[in-house]
Amino acid sequence: MPTVPAAPPGAADSFRVRFPSLKDTVHLASCSQGAMSEHVLTALQEFQWSLRDRGAPWGEWMAQVDAARAAFAAHIGARQDEIAVVSCASEGAYQVASTLDWSRRPGLVSTDMEFPSVAHVWLAQERRGAQVRYVPERDGRVPAEDYAAAIDDSTNLVSVPLVSYRNGARLPTAETVRAAHAVGARVFVDAYQGLGVLPVDVRELDCDYLVCGALKYLLGVPGIAFLYVRGGLRDDVDPQLTGWFGRVDPFSFDPRHLDFPDTARRFETGTPSIPSAYAAAAGLRTLADVEPKEIEAHVDALAGYAHARLTEIGETPASPAGPERRGPQVAIADPAPDALAAALAERRIVTSPRGSLLRLSFHYYNNRSDVDALIDALGEIRAL
Ligand SMILES: Cc1ncc(COP(=O)(O)O)c(C=O)c1O
Repeated sequence: MPTVPAAPPGAADSFRVRFPSLKDTVHLASCSQGAMSEHVLTALQEFQWSLRDRGAPWGEWMAQVDAARAAFAAHIGARQDEIAVVSCASEGAYQVASTLDWSRRPGLVSTDMEFPSVAHVWLAQERRGAQVRYVPERDGRVPAEDYAAAIDDSTNLVSVPLVSYRNGARLPTAETVRAAHAVGARVFVDAYQGLGVLPVDVRELDCDYLVCGALKYLLGVPGIAFLYVRGGLRDDVDPQLTGWFGRVDPFSFDPRHLDFPDTARRFETGTPSIPSAYAAAAGLRTLADVEPKEIEAHVDALAGYAHARLTEIGETPASPAGPERRGPQVAIADPAPDALAAALAERRIVTSPRGSLLRLSFHYYNNRSDVDALIDALGEIRAL
């Protein structure tokens, strides 16, 4: 009998096999922590080995921080000198807020769909004179005209998440940038819930600042985030949190002299998390192997399939139905999402409960069999 060669695996299948845990686990929690690739596993082992074998190889470690910075810059179409390496999104938000003079223009526009830690940084600025205004959520989303209506010529900063952490709704980032710039306000985008799946080009989007941590859709681990600061932006006042990494020459070691470079590094502080930098560089390298548009189309199709199947079995999706309004996540309403997540975890399905919702999120490594496994498990659990 003639042998038929096996069909070559699709690009998404080849991507999936790089994530060892997916052999026995359905990972639907990239909105919380991305699945761990073999590249990240190896990178973390390399960090351990660098300690064991070479003791204190600062040169190697800084090269990993710069590799992560460069990969992030490439991912969003920025220059490397427009990226500050920070420890978390809140730190990035704080650094930006601390450089604005609220006495000149007090307005800070945010939304109820903002992730709380970023919103809390904005609220804390009220002690420095900021006046925070929240654009409310309407039917699970925030219309562009509502953002535009909240912006006026007293607005200094507009903060708009790319995607809601809660229900996966896309926020009107492009329209909001246009409305803010029309009155001379700056725009901060928290891209944490989309970047890695939704392609972002900062030149096209034209935002002034963008923040994103590495652990979710960028496939890294906690402890590191990146702050994009558009080249050429001038601060009203110097960043309030600083350290030796924020100097023109960190190796000048002069405790009596404080200078700030023109680059985004002026927002950096002390020693970055080196293990997180190893993992972030590895995660971004894994992503760079695939066309961003292909990742977006794959995840769009999968989220659409999940939305339809969840509706079919009587679940209540709390996310917008149309792909143009939805990010990589479909959330369902549930009276006890923590208990539901625990029941799914017993069946090796990892999800993410928040408030009154169970979040189910998708990446390029997920496929329809993951959704089918979820639907079967939900059927079983609901029948108990
Ligand atoms: C949209 C968004 N922003 C920020 C964060 C986290 O902020 P931080 O890095 O300050 O913990 C999360 C979730 O962890 C998030 O979903």
